[in-house]
Amino acid sequence: MRLTTHSPEETEQAGADFARTLRPGDVVTLDGELGAGKTAFARGVLRGLGYEGRVTSPTFAIANEYDAPGGMVAHFDLYRILDEEALFELGFEEYLDGERILLIEWSENAGALLPEAHRTVQITYGAADDTRILEIGETA
Ligand SMILES: Nc1ncnc2c1ncn2[C@@H]1O[C@H](COP(=O)(O)OP(=O)(O)OP(=O)(O)O)[C@@H](O)[C@H]1O
Ligand SMILES: [Mg+2]
Repeated sequence: MRLTTHSPEETEQAGADFARTLRPGDVVTLDGELGAGKTAFARGVLRGLGYEGRVTSPTFAIANEYDAPGGMVAHFDLYRILDEEALFELGFEEYLDGERILLIEWSENAGALLPEAHRTVQITYGAADDTRILEIGETA
């Protein structure tokens, strides 16, 4: 599925809509350049799951955890995780408990620790400053 948004709010709404399709244990990769809107989309997912608190970028914390009405969520930003060994050290595999929903920015840094079956959200810049193209899919 492909859609275009014209503001951060629209990207958040797309995340909230997407959240309704999520099941416990789903792993979602959020891909796109710096500032594409990965965290904005994740914020929308949390809203869609009924979480009303602040949703910030986990860049420095690596992972932020949420106990949302719609389920437990772990939001990762692996920008600073340089290899899968470092991620393993963080206990990443314990998050893959079949219950938590995982939202992962810079998932390429997870290497082989990333489950093969996952949902994918690819965000690219559009022609105008605030335009973003969202491609939502899943691995085979
Ligand atoms: N249509 C849009 N959707 C999402 N964000 C938008 C849009 N238009 C403009 N923006 C702006 O783009 C930025 C997106 O920031 P965000 O932190 O969500 O990106 P990110 O992909 O998570 O970046 P990073 O790689 O640094 O984690 C915000 O400053 C937001 O205001
Ligand atoms: Mg981000």
